[in-house]
Amino acid sequence: MIKKLTAGKEILKWATDNGVAVGAFNFSNMETLQAIVEAAVEKRSPIILQVSESAINYMGIGYVTGMVEVAVDTAEIPIALHLDHGKNFDICKLCIDNGFSSVMIDKSSSSFAENVRQTKEVVDYAQKFGVAVEGELGILTGIEDDVRVAGDNSLFTNPVQALDFIEATGISSLAIAIGTSHGLNKGKTACLDIDRLIAIKDKVSNFPLVLHGASSIYPDITDICNQFGAIFRDASGINTSDIKAAISHGINKINIDTDLRLAFMAGLRRSLYQTSESIDIRMHLNSARLFTKDLVVRKLEMFKVS
Ligand code: G3H
Ligand code: 13P
Ligand code: ZN
Repeated sequence: MIKKLTAGKEILKWATDNGVAVGAFNFSNMETLQAIVEAAVEKRSPIILQVSESAINYMGIGYVTGMVEVAVDTAEIPIALHLDHGKNFDICKLCIDNGFSSVMIDKSSSSFAENVRQTKEVVDYAQKFGVAVEGELGILTGIEDDVRVAGDNSLFTNPVQALDFIEATGISSLAIAIGTSHGLNKGKTACLDIDRLIAIKDKVSNFPLVLHGASSIYPDITDICNQFGAIFRDASGINTSDIKAAISHGINKINIDTDLRLAFMAGLRRSLYQTSESIDIRMHLNSARLFTKDLVVRKLEMFKVS
């Protein structure tokens, strides 16, 4: 329905065939969308554009699909459009019916049986349209769905269950919990359970695995935010060396949202402070867009998908 959009499954296949991770970047407005696409075009890199339900509510689904249609029409690189953390069948169906090429159903905080049941319901609908479905098994550290599991790996993804889940649901990719968490504060000692990743990949063969909560929270970017009025003093993320290790051991899709938000804020705050006399919102938003584009270039270089 969105002309020239690439199938989610095709991009996942490209990533697994090449032993790399595709960058999956959240956008919330036209400027972040343009920044992501311009960076991907510059690096000649396939990407996944993704939106959360709250981002859809903010922009309106028609603007989401309309802006993406314009972006894919002009960018000569493979681009998929994905729903991030779909809470139920209805939001997944809405996105599939509006032409998304990939959706996530996240019932990771439900029981295994309920997670399988609701994930399979989405897969059954999605496969009629060739749409990829991402499921999630395990709970991320920090706070996910009001469950605090910092430092407790008992809710990390179990390798045997991962294979059972994939077979029972028919999903196209699986998000796993190995020590990351969403947002600005991942913990000063956040590190990835690479042994668990190796065990999961071993069990599921070449099946595409997804890493959520993968932002690095670069000090050079939070410093600029702080210099221009923010107070992000305890922010911490995942080391780039851990991300690279995760890719080399079988992560094929990496979700980034917080680093994009921080880059956007840094560019915007600096512009607002340095040219405080200007009411040209295009100039301020362009500064944010350029800063965000540089962040995405940095990510794509790190993911080695150029
Ligand atoms: O994984 C969660 C994303 O960062 C989405 O957050 O619901 O505020 O758009 P949001
Ligand atoms: P970050 O908050 O680390 O950017 O993670 C984003 C994410 O997982 C979106 O699904
Ligand atoms: Zn996520």
